Amino acid sequence: MRIRPLLAARTAGLAPSPIRKLAPLMRLPGMISLGGGYPNPGTFAFSSMTVDFHTGRSLQIAGADLVAACQYGPTDCHVSLKPLLQAWHNAKDGVELGNDMIQVLNGSQEGLHVLGYLLLDPGDSVAISEPAYPGALTAFRAFSDKFLPIPIDEHGTVTSELERKLEGIRAQGGKLPKFVYEVPNGHNPAGVSLSLERRHHLLELARRFDLLIVEDDPYQLLQLEDREPIPTLQSLDRHGHVLRLDSFSKIFSPGLRVGYASGPAELIRLFELYKQGTNLHTSSMAQALLAGFLQLHTPEEFRALVRRNCRVYRDNRDAMIDGARRFLPDGVHYNVPNEGMFIWFVLPEQFDAQRMVETDSTDLGVLLVPGPAFSTSGGLTHCMRASFSMVAPDALREGMRRFGEMIEREAARVRRR
Ligand SMILES: Cc1ncc(COP(=O)(O)O)c(C=O)c1O
Repeated sequence: MRIRPLLAARTAGLAPSPIRKLAPLMRLPGMISLGGGYPNPGTFAFSSMTVDFHTGRSLQIAGADLVAACQYGPTDCHVSLKPLLQAWHNAKDGVELGNDMIQVLNGSQEGLHVLGYLLLDPGDSVAISEPAYPGALTAFRAFSDKFLPIPIDEHGTVTSELERKLEGIRAQGGKLPKFVYEVPNGHNPAGVSLSLERRHHLLELARRFDLLIVEDDPYQLLQLEDREPIPTLQSLDRHGHVLRLDSFSKIFSPGLRVGYASGPAELIRLFELYKQGTNLHTSSMAQALLAGFLQLHTPEEFRALVRRNCRVYRDNRDAMIDGARRFLPDGVHYNVPNEGMFIWFVLPEQFDAQRMVETDSTDLGVLLVPGPAFSTSGGLTHCMRASFSMVAPDALREGMRRFGEMIEREAARVRRR
């Protein structure tokens, strides 16, 4: 698809940094470079590094690798990481990414902000599920506060509803959304995954309406039932309609802040220009640690480690569902997620989730996030998100018991009105 017509007016000023452009020349063997403003490696604080992984393997970073980990590096990707990321992506998704199709990010969250910057002029809209990931709403709202909310059910975003809305906009000669934002696996907060059938339908809509799809997929490998993930939108796409965001936060370590965007080279190049002007590149050290891990572990070994960690999440999910079944009254609806970390609770319409949290959370000692945080328009006032990732199974059951009490208190308030 053509990217240029999608670009926001502010991108007109994006130009390559004149110094960064010279970086490949500086790295040529034999070059006496007087060009870079890099600090002398002899002044760096580190003399060597050893990192021990839970898998029992250790990483030694020394010599030239240590200098590279401490020094400024390329904007798109740490040199040793790129081939490893390409191999990881291919093993995981069956997609071969060219050298100009990857941009490493400070977590996928940075990608959401960059997309807003590159694509959204004030008044532009984004098609997005309702409920939606609040971090995406925040990132996009910095540039435009207009959304095309699409309902979501147990099979993910209701693509027939998206189709109906797009047809309506086109029939009225209106402006189509700049892109469709999709969290295809273990949706935050809805806890559902987009079915294969709907993935195909979404791609068909992307072709028919010439739409970009942003596939934000941090929960792809958090498979609680040890199943293979459904093929990614990017892997099913044949026409360059998908910009994908991968994250190492949920499978490696969120504090490192490493994720990557992949997709059409023209758009990835704009990500790179944006980063040149904002943070030069994602931390070399963080990328070197990930590269070291990927050198020491094959993609299959990495996947096995993630699968093992998923058992913790599965036990937690089972405990929360057990508690919910035991302690929550009829009339409270929730999903049993097979991926991700979240359960979305829908309470009776008259309930006010914000009031429940403000009035009873401290007293009862249980906290959930009220629905409006996930709404494009301050709605979802009777809904709440719970995460089962961080709390031990017994505490999750007790949390559901306390949540049951919170619900009873709100029911009493509603009856009195
Ligand atoms: C759907 C979704 N996208 C993006 C992010 C941000 O992830 P990262 O740590 O890679 O920035 C999150 C984090 O919770 C998320 O749930």
